[in-house]
Amino acid sequence: MNRDNAFELLKNYVINPKLISHCLASELIMRKLAEYFSEDKEEWGLAGLLHDIDVEITNADPKTHGQVGRKILSDAGVPEKVLEAISRHNEDSSPIPRNTRLDHALAAGETISGMIFATALVYPDKKISSVKPSSVIKRMKDKRFAASVKRENIMECEKIGIQLQEFVILCLEALKDADLEF
Ligand SMILES: [Fe+2]
Repeated sequence: MNRDNAFELLKNYVINPKLISHCLASELIMRKLAEYFSEDKEEWGLAGLLHDIDVEITNADPKTHGQVGRKILSDAGVPEKVLEAISRHNEDSSPIPRNTRLDHALAAGETISGMIFATALVYPDKKISSVKPSSVIKRMKDKRFAASVKRENIMECEKIGIQLQEFVILCLEALKDADLEF
């Protein structure tokens, strides 16, 4: 499956523009992380772009979100390692815990996009390019700020050898030029 087909498929299932932005941000972050690790940018990008394809049809139900998406994407011919990472990005529905580099990168990368968007909204110009890494890290420590963003998922960056500060820098770099609605 190429990137354009993947995006068309995503748009068949996800309508909310903010969710589409979340998927596009996750894609950019995953491509950046693939580059960092010399992994396959196309595959990692697909994992980011498609990981929430079932979010509207499952209403993000913790028991099925990720597994319904896996089935849709399996039928569409998405590679198995990408399917596994998508299945495991929701730890509440996956029968198997995250264990590969791609699994942890997706969990950490898609989750931090929410923290970055929330932090950008606090800035007067609401631009990701204005956001400082230190301000994302500071807000991560405030549990009431963007309370639904799972900090422990972001911290999985350290399971794949990237310290939090470097991870935040990489993810901001991935998003700084993107024109996303959030
Ligand atoms: Fe997501």
